[in-house]
Amino acid sequence: MSTDKKYSAIHYHSYLGLEKILGAQNCRSKELGVEAHEETLFIIVHQVYELWFKQIIHEVDSVMNLFKTNNVDEKNIDIAVLRLERVNEIIKLLIQQIKVLETMTPLDFLDFRSYLFPASGFQSFQFRKLEVMLGLKIEKRIAYTPHKYYHEFDTEQQKQMEHIEASESLFDLVQGWLERTPFLETGDFDFKGKYMEAVKKMLDKEKSAILQSDYLSEQEKEMRLRMNGDTDTFFIHVFDEAYHQKLIEEGKVKLSFKATIAALLIQLYGNEPILQLPCRLLNVITEMDTLLTNWRYSHAQMVMRMLGKKTGTGGSSGFEYLMETVKKHQIFLDFHNISTLLIPRSEVPDLPPTLKRTLGYYYNHI
Ligand code: HEM
Repeated sequence: MSTDKKYSAIHYHSYLGLEKILGAQNCRSKELGVEAHEETLFIIVHQVYELWFKQIIHEVDSVMNLFKTNNVDEKNIDIAVLRLERVNEIIKLLIQQIKVLETMTPLDFLDFRSYLFPASGFQSFQFRKLEVMLGLKIEKRIAYTPHKYYHEFDTEQQKQMEHIEASESLFDLVQGWLERTPFLETGDFDFKGKYMEAVKKMLDKEKSAILQSDYLSEQEKEMRLRMNGDTDTFFIHVFDEAYHQKLIEEGKVKLSFKATIAALLIQLYGNEPILQLPCRLLNVITEMDTLLTNWRYSHAQMVMRMLGKKTGTGGSSGFEYLMETVKKHQIFLDFHNISTLLIPRSEVPDLPPTLKRTLGYYYNHI
């Protein structure tokens, strides 16, 4: 028996709730003083942001649900990639929108800014929720008041935020999925040994290119070799689990050892049929992290232009605080850092045929 309710006609306006949305631009300047022309733009831009935040949270939440299992279905990885690609397109729009707001001059803004205190972007529940869902932990946040950041919200929202803080984030879920990847068991294939040989070959090539260069002075050569030495040390520790654990404890790295090796394998052998989708997933997440960082940076630049060194309506130092978040609130930095471990395709160790076969489609003969 069908559970559908009887179909009734609907009007465009009521379907989209336009009465509420279009009736929600209440200019404080008009209410409290002289109406400032630019305030409508300011309100609409913020409202559009909040709507897009809602859509992004909807997508990220659905992707997290797909990963809340010990056995993620391959089909679901495709869905996750498509949804996160959508998120990335939305964030690109969010970055562009800053330009629209920047058609307002700093003087235009001052016509109504005084009516906004103490309202601030700090009170955007959805923005904070998104950050926490993705994996920004409270202890990693730049503290701008002696209180926890969620004291800005009402009791119900505070409870919700505490719950999300205590739950697994997208970072945790993807890390768990990476740790469980079956191809980490490479049987007789000594990936570590072969990879280190390839690294040595790559570094030797770089060293001889420096030494043979006609353009570099002896001093520059010495400096470059010293830098190359640092990379060398970096690679030596790649497979040192205890060292990796120490970096985690010192807060320098977040991604677990096992997940890091899995991400490295996925990137190096991302052309193998079974690894193509996981590789796209890692790339789309890394891209999302880059785009969010770009948004933070563009927003900070706009704040600099609008306010100079004035403090924010929410009580932070303004531009300075926001620039700090650009670097410190990045969540998937370890995913970007996998690139440090990559070696040229020509040096990547060949997989033994049996392993290659398990990473391909089973009906193929190698
Ligand atoms: C004239 C335009 C804008 C100015 C001058 C401005 C200024 C600021 C300042 C100074 C802060 C730091 C917190 C404070 O002390 O108040 C801040 C934070 C924030 N703003 Fe804006 N903002 C503007 C537009 C926007 C827009 C369009 C959005 C979109 C939703 C937005 C979202 C946020 C968010 C989410 C934060 C918190 C950032 C964090 O803590 O990482 N802002 N803004």
